[in-house]
Amino acid sequence: MIWEYDSMTGLARVKVVSDDGTFVHVEFTNGNGTVCFSDEPSEFTVGDVVLVTDNTLEKAPQELWPSEKSWVGVIKLLHTDEVVVEIGGSLHIMPHPTGTTLKVGNTVEGFGLSKIARVISDSPIRFIDLPGVDDVTIRQFKEESSSSRSFDDFAGSAGIVARAKELIETPLKYYKELDEIGARPIKGVLFTGDPGTGKTLLAKIIASRSDATFYQISGPQIMNKWLGQSEELIRKIFEDAAKQDKAIVFFDEIDSLATQRSDDSHEASRRVVGQLLASMDGFKREKNVMVIATTNRPQDIDSALRRPGRFDWEIHFPLPGRDDREAILRKSQPHGAVSDLPHAAVAEKTESWSPAELVAIWSEAALFAVADRRKRILEEDYIGGFEQVATQRARKEAERKNREG
Ligand SMILES: Nc1ncnc2c1ncn2[C@@H]1O[C@H](COP(=O)(O)OP(=O)(O)OP(=O)(O)O)[C@@H](O)[C@H]1O
Ligand SMILES: [Mg+2]
Repeated sequence: MIWEYDSMTGLARVKVVSDDGTFVHVEFTNGNGTVCFSDEPSEFTVGDVVLVTDNTLEKAPQELWPSEKSWVGVIKLLHTDEVVVEIGGSLHIMPHPTGTTLKVGNTVEGFGLSKIARVISDSPIRFIDLPGVDDVTIRQFKEESSSSRSFDDFAGSAGIVARAKELIETPLKYYKELDEIGARPIKGVLFTGDPGTGKTLLAKIIASRSDATFYQISGPQIMNKWLGQSEELIRKIFEDAAKQDKAIVFFDEIDSLATQRSDDSHEASRRVVGQLLASMDGFKREKNVMVIATTNRPQDIDSALRRPGRFDWEIHFPLPGRDDREAILRKSQPHGAVSDLPHAAVAEKTESWSPAELVAIWSEAALFAVADRRKRILEEDYIGGFEQVATQRARKEAERKNREG
């Protein structure tokens, strides 16, 4: 029998065999794979350990295959023939081992993803020994109200500010009256809009102007730093909020933790969404809690969160129009800039720019001034800054078009 394959040789395991055995796909111990073709039928079966040498495929003793990596997990669910085990935050179904008595909550050691070998502990042990979420932890998320920002810092878009006040401040202020009227309470408001359109800025202004207790949670931070405890953290924050006279819970960039719970979405994200839904559904009428969330990818948010009784109100932050652009440029002008700069002309030339991009002009302008050893931003710096940001935008746009083909 003559076998044909790439030059790879060594110990391998059969992954796929064609019906007549002339085609065998093997995987080497290092994880690389290769396909072998034979001129005659062979009798390999999936799982066989084989020695691949030049031109031959030979059956080798099963024991030669390196033993499978062991894992430690916690039993979550027991059936007569199957068990669900949590390993490192995700769930796996595997056959119920014979001869071992298991209980839900046992910590077990296993091999591969189908074999439970022994019980290590009667109680669940955690993958990482995480500290519990206590009051001190919660305090990190509470923003002390400060008057450092005001609604005045939000330039242009008067409509957005008015709408935010109406949806967030009014219900918190008049919740008793609204309750008496029998109005369904507003629980959540979602801020949507392109990157840099002022969503986070407005939420922070609300935080410093409102007399409600403000909890600020950043989606990416939770998914990195608090992954193992994210559900507990969310539950505790909502519990703490419910004890306050008035509270606002703010989730910045919520898409990073509440993406659609599709099959392939991360297990942790799924649990976080579940907890968020439970917490939001759990508010009683008498609890004066409002949730604000921001996202620049509303389409990626789990649709269950956008159903009535959750984030059912949305405020869209559009790209500013000409007049709003002028207002933003004026408002963000650093005190080290000369007066009477040509804001109208720049506003005219910045169609479809985001507020963040407009504000970036000042950073660039300041660099021109400093490079020229001046303490004031002059018109030439301002124009130079505008051109600099315009070039960066054009480059990013070209890259984006390239990526999208
Ligand atoms: N209406 C505005 N008035 C003045 N400055 C603004 C305004 N909107 C945005 N900015 C400026 O743009 C910067 C970025 O805004 P912000 O961080 O709020 O954007 P965002 O909408 O949260 O973006 P992302 O979706 O990327 O998180 C702010 O720090 C501020 O300097
Ligand atoms: Mg933001």
